[in-house]
Amino acid sequence: MKLTFDDLGSGKPIVLIHGFPLSKEMWRAQADLLAANGFRVILPDLPGFGNNVPSPFYSIEEMAAQINELLESLKIEKAIIGGLSMGGYVLFSLFRLFPEKFSALILCDTTYLADTEEKKNSRFELISKIENQGSGALIEAMLPNLISEDTKQDNPALKAKLEETFSLVKEVSAVNSLRSMAERKDSSATLEQISVPTLLIFGEFDKVTNLDNAHVMNQRISDSELVVIEKAGHFSNLEQPEQFNKALLDFCSRIEF
Ligand code: MLT
Repeated sequence: MKLTFDDLGSGKPIVLIHGFPLSKEMWRAQADLLAANGFRVILPDLPGFGNNVPSPFYSIEEMAAQINELLESLKIEKAIIGGLSMGGYVLFSLFRLFPEKFSALILCDTTYLADTEEKKNSRFELISKIENQGSGALIEAMLPNLISEDTKQDNPALKAKLEETFSLVKEVSAVNSLRSMAERKDSSATLEQISVPTLLIFGEFDKVTNLDNAHVMNQRISDSELVVIEKAGHFSNLEQPEQFNKALLDFCSRIEF
């Protein structure tokens, strides 16, 4: 399957992979900033999201292979590759399959751990709700945990936009991705294999992939640095774009290709 994507700016390539249940649009503020600072930014839509048509089921590994095919088709041999949450799960697989493609890694609000049995069960419950009530079920089941209390109070426009985006997600895409996430592999053994510079960016109040897990990654990845985004939850780039962008640009500007 060919993924839809945006290709902005010119210079050293940076690929950013979105989280669930969003699309490449979640990176708009970061992409504009990076493109204005001399980078080429590639933003793929994972299968079934954004501009992609509803798709069959793909595992997280298959999504990683699709990202690699996209890079091959664009003749990009090496890039800084980042992902938020589900995008991070795809990144761990991509790193296992094609480590030579990475000049650096950016892991945002994500985890190396597989789902616990409890988490898997909650995903299958959510799948049944979506099948009965449509994608709007994502709002009640997920949104309260995804954004911080500060964001809920200070940024009602973002909350409303996310509610709209969640309700417009294609049901089949939501169901398939929830299953892909539930079935994903544990990436513990990958952490010690990562030797490229790695930026970890996490919202202070991320309840989905929390700071404890970020500290473990920071300890176990040899060349990593952790930036904590104040007042943000799990969608740290959307909730506090200024802090996020500063950390992102600072890191990318230091990477040698
Ligand atoms: C995401 O933001 O991609 C998802 O919330 C991740 C997850 O549910 O594990």
